[in-house]
Amino acid sequence: MSESLLIRRAGQLLTLRGPDGARRGAALSDIGIVPDGAVLITDGLIEAAGAAEDVERLAASADNVVELDAGGRVVMPGFVDSHTHLVFRQPRLLDYEMRIRGADYHQIAEAGGGILSSVQAVRKAAPEELEAQARRAIHNFARHGTTTVEAKSGYGLDETAEMKTLVVLAAIDGQPLEIVSTYLGAHVIPPEHAKDPDGYIDWMVREMMPRIRRQKLAAFADVYCDQGAFTIEQARRYLSAAREIGFQLKIHAEQFSHTGAARLAVELEAASADHLEQADHEDAAALGQSSTVATLLPGSVFHLGLDRYAPARLLIEHGAAVALATDFNPGTSPTCSMPMVLSLACTRMRMSPAEAISAATINGAHALGRGHEAGSLDPGKQGDVILLNATDYREIPYYFGVNLVATTVKRGAVIYQQGQISGGTAKESAADAR
Ligand code: NIG
Ligand code: FE
Repeated sequence: MSESLLIRRAGQLLTLRGPDGARRGAALSDIGIVPDGAVLITDGLIEAAGAAEDVERLAASADNVVELDAGGRVVMPGFVDSHTHLVFRQPRLLDYEMRIRGADYHQIAEAGGGILSSVQAVRKAAPEELEAQARRAIHNFARHGTTTVEAKSGYGLDETAEMKTLVVLAAIDGQPLEIVSTYLGAHVIPPEHAKDPDGYIDWMVREMMPRIRRQKLAAFADVYCDQGAFTIEQARRYLSAAREIGFQLKIHAEQFSHTGAARLAVELEAASADHLEQADHEDAAALGQSSTVATLLPGSVFHLGLDRYAPARLLIEHGAAVALATDFNPGTSPTCSMPMVLSLACTRMRMSPAEAISAATINGAHALGRGHEAGSLDPGKQGDVILLNATDYREIPYYFGVNLVATTVKRGAVIYQQGQISGGTAKESAADAR
């Protein structure tokens, strides 16, 4: 017998419904607002979402219906966070303090911080420790309204630690969030290959990529193309080989220096080019003409205390399909909060609240090749829905640093309900905060 969840009394329902494909230009502002709406989810999939009357009539003829009263709240699809570095061992608090005092990247690395300190920690960690840490993070994503998370390897770099990372991701997939895994072997050059980055690329292409494909441990391959990481030629070689054996592609592009990586993403028909803080007119024009999603990560610019955010308006004017993601990682963006990312996108990149919502839902889904199953409340898509303590969606970015998520529903199951303020012990609250 089938089971349904009816979400009633949505004061403002955002369906994000629209034509197939990622949203661009004016279409980014069309978030499908239905005042007084409802959503019916049957066996984990959206059956109907729209005017309360119509949806409730349909629900009346269904069996086994559980009701959830939205009480006039905003109801919308869960966030799709299409760029995270989910699996790491510990925060980098030393980096944070040193940076506040004015230290640069090299000084931080010399003091034992930086990406390589995360690599050492992941190599040493037991799989159970990594899994426990990743599960804690996932619960935090769910509390902030995210229902699908992309997650990259890239803090292991050697065979054992990369496989350990990808196996952890496979183990937590669906518990309760959906995880889309990415192989980021080309994150930085590991110390043992410092003198031979091309040899490292050869090894990834020859050994790691085929193994990961065979074991179905990642759908995407990603490379960090920047000064101090990989060159554009190395990125092209790595990504071309990945594409040949069936990976979809992503690139960390134009983050600190302009390398041409955004245009490489277009040339190789990558699913997304991510970061883009240094992107120029030509990059925006190329992305606008392509199917490659421009994924912006303002959390990392904020956390690093920098001023140059990605040129969101320029990208939108050129017709690029802009997405927003957290870039959750211990070095540059330690946040699970898509609502905070929306605040940064609106205030610092001048995206409108409606554009930011489209970028954080339907376009995030397209950046993961999942536009057909997530990111909007179209019938047949996954029943991934959030209820917010707001009556107008613009409150989501407006109340910066405040989590308005009241309830998170994944495939028709309530996986998070906001708790009572007096409910927990101090010990529980400390664990919850992580
Ligand atoms: O997306 N830029 C490269 N990778 C990460 C940062 C990784 C780290 O510092 O640990 C990013 O910002
Ligand atoms: Fe990243």
